[in-house]
Amino acid sequence: MHLLRRNRRLRNSEAIRALVRETTISADDFLVPLFVVEGSGIQQEIPSMPGYYRYSLDLLKKEVKELWSLGLKSVLLFVKVPDNLKDNKGTEALNADGLMQRAIKTVKEVAPDMLVMTDVALDPYSSYGHDGIVEDGYIVNDKTTEVLAQMSLSHAQAGADFVAPSDMMDGRILAIRELLEKEKFVNTGIMSYSAKYASAFYGPFRDALDSAPGFGDKKTYQMDVANRDEAIKETLMDIDEGADIVMVKPGLCYLDIVRDIKNVVDVPVAVYQVSGEYAMLKAAAEKGWLDHDAVMMEQVMAIKRAGANIIASYFAKDVVKLLS
Ligand code: PBG
Repeated sequence: MHLLRRNRRLRNSEAIRALVRETTISADDFLVPLFVVEGSGIQQEIPSMPGYYRYSLDLLKKEVKELWSLGLKSVLLFVKVPDNLKDNKGTEALNADGLMQRAIKTVKEVAPDMLVMTDVALDPYSSYGHDGIVEDGYIVNDKTTEVLAQMSLSHAQAGADFVAPSDMMDGRILAIRELLEKEKFVNTGIMSYSAKYASAFYGPFRDALDSAPGFGDKKTYQMDVANRDEAIKETLMDIDEGADIVMVKPGLCYLDIVRDIKNVVDVPVAVYQVSGEYAMLKAAAEKGWLDHDAVMMEQVMAIKRAGANIIASYFAKDVVKLLS
């Protein structure tokens, strides 16, 4: 028998593999999440996220400079709000001199060309740890979207390039877009967490920001993990309402959703490889059960291959250092 087609010919050396490789990874693919705290001289490791830190503004400067020097040009900011500033309405979120607003300015000060995205949701500011305003044990929708729009405007005024609403309220993209247009922030973009699931993989993140829900869970607003068609509905609606970039979250367990969405939308698709995904690999590597770098590269490659144009990942720095 003579085989006419031998697929292994295209795998026999690194040179041929590189030549026919369908997906490549570079610093350009990444959006780097950053956790910011009040104070000075603070770089606190997050216990459930080994190698990942919360920074006070002075040390944030150093970190941002390092990211920029590594070719990482986009960050996604999160703040840890002191307990005494939390309330049901997230009042502190609108403070023009609040931690988020100062963090945006700090990043722009040390790296003016760094793209700054900000998380928009009430949970870090909420005394209930929920993404919206609570009334009679329910997270109310329309009052919440009003605050989210004001919050987005405040971030835009502080210099944010994109706002990233992560709350999953109905109609929030429209509310945000309308207010930004009205206030002439026509170039402030919206990256919508459009298909965000009620996932158990956010645990370490909630440790990082001390933002775990004080009662119940987030299942009345975040998506049911069992649903696939609904992700397309959510995403198409957000695009109609004005989202510039859409997102699927978490990453690895949801790559079917990423591909479904990639096949039907004409805007960039972001994927958030979340805190629990980071923690799992760090823990397995610590035990010597997995090869950290090899598995990390395989994971980000898989996310991109599935259809991600943008990867929000706590591994961004590790990946870029490994590539260079
Ligand atoms: C806030 C928000 C969360 C994450 C991003 N923005 C947590 C949540 O919805 O409870 C999770 C990110 C991660 O786990 O890395 N709404």
